[in-house]
Amino acid sequence: NEIKIFSPATVANVACGFDVLGFCLDSVGDVMVIRKTDQKGIYITKIEGFNLPYEAELNVAGVSALAMYDALKPNCGFEIEIYKNIKPGSGIGSSAASAVGSVFGMNELLGRPYNKTQLTAFSIKGEALASKCEHADNLAPAIFGGFTLVKSVNPLEILEIPTPDDLYVTIIHPQIEIKTSEARAILPKNIPLNDAITQWANFGSLIHALHTSNYELMQKSLHDAIIEPYRSQLIPYYNDVKTAVLKAGALGCGISGSGPSIFTLNQGSETANNVKDAMEKVYSKTGIEFDIHVSRIN
Ligand code: HSE
Repeated sequence: NEIKIFSPATVANVACGFDVLGFCLDSVGDVMVIRKTDQKGIYITKIEGFNLPYEAELNVAGVSALAMYDALKPNCGFEIEIYKNIKPGSGIGSSAASAVGSVFGMNELLGRPYNKTQLTAFSIKGEALASKCEHADNLAPAIFGGFTLVKSVNPLEILEIPTPDDLYVTIIHPQIEIKTSEARAILPKNIPLNDAITQWANFGSLIHALHTSNYELMQKSLHDAIIEPYRSQLIPYYNDVKTAVLKAGALGCGISGSGPSIFTLNQGSETANNVKDAMEKVYSKTGIEFDIHVSRIN
């Protein structure tokens, strides 16, 4: 009647895949406990880590839980405890982890009435509360694991993309908050055709590189011609970090989701750790607090 789950952090966009590509980290995430109750309804009974609303209708985990609950109308209710490790506004899918955790846990307790795509669809409702927009590029990897491509939101269609064995992510999280809704508001509504051509060429080749474990092609594809020029201005010392990590051997570097976290993909754990040192060197001079994680993609 009770389940404890790990709801992982995720990196959305992955340079050239704005709003469609994402991957899942295996070492950073929230813990949630979901409990079946006789009393009907969705109740958030405990939140630790960050100050978030207890009213289910105002809480990301509550909204996605209610979406599933209202669709299924089960003969019971649920209590949700949230032990939040992922800081809201950090760019590694904090709202997605909450949105996914509640529906995943409820689905397990109910004997899995829904498949992963349907769970993602419910969690979109929670994510939309936080980012004011229905996108699933953090939700899908949190539910499916590995790399996922959101082919379409309406109807929801998700493709699982293979993860090369030796791929590691190094990610730095400067302790400043960027709201996804604000980082979306500064983006242009129209983009030049030339930039679009560059972006879809890179995106297509990145997907090919992931399928074929072609690290050289990955390195040539991890560029963002469209979003990075706007959002990088919100992240202190972004260009310094990027220069340093590429010099340290990273395959590519980009803004994680809507920032301020900055991710790199690396071939092998040794390079990933060299990249960590390079990030540390740049950021320790800035006076801004930060943390850095090295993780496999899982
Ligand atoms: N694709 C989204 C964005 C992810 O970049 O705005 C952040 O939630």
